[in-house]
Amino acid sequence: MDVHEALYTTRMMRRMRPDPVPLETQCRILDAAIRAPSGGNAQRWHFLVVEDPKIKARLHEIYRRCRRLEYEDPASAALGKALHETGEDHAEAMRKIKASGDYFTDHFEEIPLLIFVFAVDDLGGANTYPAIWNAFLAARAEGVGGVMTLVLRYAEDEVTKLLGVPVEQGWRMTTMLAFGYPLGRWGVAANRRPVHEVASRDHWDQPFGVEIPDPLWSPQAGA
Ligand SMILES: Cc1cc2nc3c(=O)[nH]c(=O)nc-3n(C[C@H](O)[C@H](O)[C@H](O)COP(=O)(O)O)c2cc1C
Repeated sequence: MDVHEALYTTRMMRRMRPDPVPLETQCRILDAAIRAPSGGNAQRWHFLVVEDPKIKARLHEIYRRCRRLEYEDPASAALGKALHETGEDHAEAMRKIKASGDYFTDHFEEIPLLIFVFAVDDLGGANTYPAIWNAFLAARAEGVGGVMTLVLRYAEDEVTKLLGVPVEQGWRMTTMLAFGYPLGRWGVAANRRPVHEVASRDHWDQPFGVEIPDPLWSPQAGA
């Protein structure tokens, strides 16, 4: 797959088929993930793959509970504000995210592949997000989609206990990644504020200098 196609069309997919992700595909996803940089090349990361239905059932129950907590959390109001700034219809954007999040929650146990990312000294995710995004791009090349979610942080102790994580050695959960073959179709992430709105040059108040109203890659142009 062309690198630009992967960059422009790797979207978060919350609706997926229950078909398993073959082991060789899992290998390609994780082997690409560990090629990513980390501070000092310390690689203090751990990727815990979960496929066991019994563990998924336990996680499903925890996930449902955490999602309720997230909605009650005043911090999630920040999401609404951010959406407003994108210029998208706020109510409509929230409705879409909530609907696909509800679907994801209801079908949690059918998600074929969960990968929990743990790290020591993650610096707010700085040491693991490059690897996480490598995983999503590698998955995209395999036709596998998914979503990352921080929702389980509301029950981190419970999750780490369930998964046997050696927290006494400093290991903390960064995020959970859910992977599977998507039900939806891939498309360019067009609902983004354009570069000239979020970039400047030499000084915060100075314009970037070029307006890029439309994505610079499209399926037609890229094909
Ligand atoms: C740090 C981070 C945390 C996220 N947490 C969640 C989450 O808890 N649940 C979820 O459904 N999506 C989550 N997402 C996915 C975003 O909602 C998604 O990237 C955004 O809505 C854009 O969607 P798109 O990539 O499909 O265009 C998260 C993304 C990031 C980068």
